[in-house]
Formats: sequence, structure tokens, C-alpha cells
Amino acid sequence: MMLELRDLKVRYGQVEALHGLNLTVEEGELVTILGANGAGKSTTLMAISGLVAVAEGGIYFKGERIDTLRSHQVVNLGITQSPEGRRVFGPLTVAENLALGAFTKSDRPAVAARLKWIYELFPRLYERQTQMAGTLSGGEQQMLAIGRALMSEPQLLLLDEPSLGLAPLLVKSIFQTIRSINQAGVTVILVEQNARAALKLADRGYVLEVGRIVMEGPAQKLLHDPQVQSTYLGVGAME
Ligand SMILES: Nc1ncnc2c1ncn2[C@@H]1O[C@H](COP(=O)(O)OP(=O)(O)OP(=O)(O)O)[C@@H](O)[C@H]1O
Ligand SMILES: [Mg+2]
Repeated sequence: MMLELRDLKVRYGQVEALHGLNLTVEEGELVTILGANGAGKSTTLMAISGLVAVAEGGIYFKGERIDTLRSHQVVNLGITQSPEGRRVFGPLTVAENLALGAFTKSDRPAVAARLKWIYELFPRLYERQTQMAGTLSGGEQQMLAIGRALMSEPQLLLLDEPSLGLAPLLVKSIFQTIRSINQAGVTVILVEQNARAALKLADRGYVLEVGRIVMEGPAQKLLHDPQVQSTYLGVGAME
């Protein structure tokens, strides 16, 4: 087991956003978390990353408790999040943004090899190395955000809505790249509103409703579940 959330609760002030989540991820898996707006998907990822405080319960990475750590310590353990809304540094170039992702790494040959791999995953970034990140298209900024997250050599990559706002063709390409990243040995948690594409890619899935897991199982099973279909895949009611 790589990651385990045990009875995880998160509160924003008086408001409890996660009401006791139990979730596990095995090494090498691609796990998706589905849910409507406000369900608590981003909160779950931020809790894992150490970006929001855990009120109750615990988070364990390879058996070690991590919810007591600071976010940079979580990154050093091998967990990196590519945030929702592609926060890249606009006034810096593509290459500079990527370099920032590896700023804690001192093994230069390893960093160079990483960079080469990322440029292979995203040829568009290779072509735009010297371009200011702020002038990239939305899709390119998303690629850069994922590339930057990969520069820290994560064992576990957390992706928050990587397909948000992208043109259909780019969505397909981003999902294919996520598959390649996972096949290269990186464990992935993928948060997506694009439930169908996410379930097709994932090994397993969790469905989150207002801070609770209401369903979980193999992705193929969820893909064919009538309730998931009518609520998240737009199948049934209209057809
Ligand atoms: N900083 C915050 N302060 C107060 N409440 C917050 C904060 N961030 C999130 N919340 C609340 O916590 C709940 C879960 O939000 P979260 O962003 O985790 O949902 P989400 O599933 O990622 O939604 P979306 O699909 O819109 O990204 C929501 O009710 C939201 O309003
Ligand atoms: Mg969110």
C-alpha cells in the first residue's frame, strides 16, 4: 500500500468539508476521484499535499504518517500536486518554470534526464522552451504545470482537473500523456469532472459526494454502474 487516508476530516473554520474519508492507493495504480462541484476533491488532494490542515484522522504514505508534515516535506517524500487552475509563473519562460520544479534536486544528470523525458511527453513544451509561460495557451499551461510537477520526481502525482477548459482534442492528448506517466511507474491520483475519460483511464475510482465517499471500486465497474452513469456520465435520464 502506498497511500492511505484513514477517517480523514478537514474543516474550513466551522464548516467540515471532509467527513471521514477512507481511501487507499497501491503503488503503480491510477486512481480517480469523481464528484460534483464542491464535493471535496481538491480539499482531499490538498490535505495529502499538506496544503490544508487535517482536523481528524490520518494520512499515511508507505506506512509513515504524513499529515503532520509541512508541504515541502511531503514533496521531498515523493508526493507532488499539479494544482487546479494551472498555476504557472507567467513572467518566466517554459524552461525556467520547469527548472523551478527541480529546485531541491542537486543531481544534475538526473535533472537533465528528467527534463528530456518531460520534453518527450510534451513536445509542445520543447518547442516553446524560451516562451514566457504567461503567453502560452490554456492547454500548454496545463502541460507546463504537469511537467513542473514531474520535475520533482514524484512517486505519487496528484492531478487536479487537468482537462479543465481544454479543447476536446487536447483533452484526449492530456489523458494519453497521463497514461504514459503512469506506465512509466508514477502512481497517480486523478481528480476529474470528465468522469467517463477518467474512468476509462483509471484502475479504480472513488465517488465523492459532499465530503463523503459514496461509492468505490474498479473503474470498469463504476463505468457500468447505472447510478454512476445517470449522475456522472449523462447516461439514462436523457436517452
Ligand atoms: N478555503 C476555503 N475556505 C472555506 N471553504 C472552502 C475553502 N475551500 C473549499 N471550501 C469548501 O469546501 C468544500 C469542498 O471544496 P473543494 O474545493 O474541495 O471541492 P471540489 O470537489 O474540488 O470542487 P470543484 O469541482 O468545484 O473544484 C466546498 O463546500 C467549498 O466551498
Ligand atoms: Mg476542485
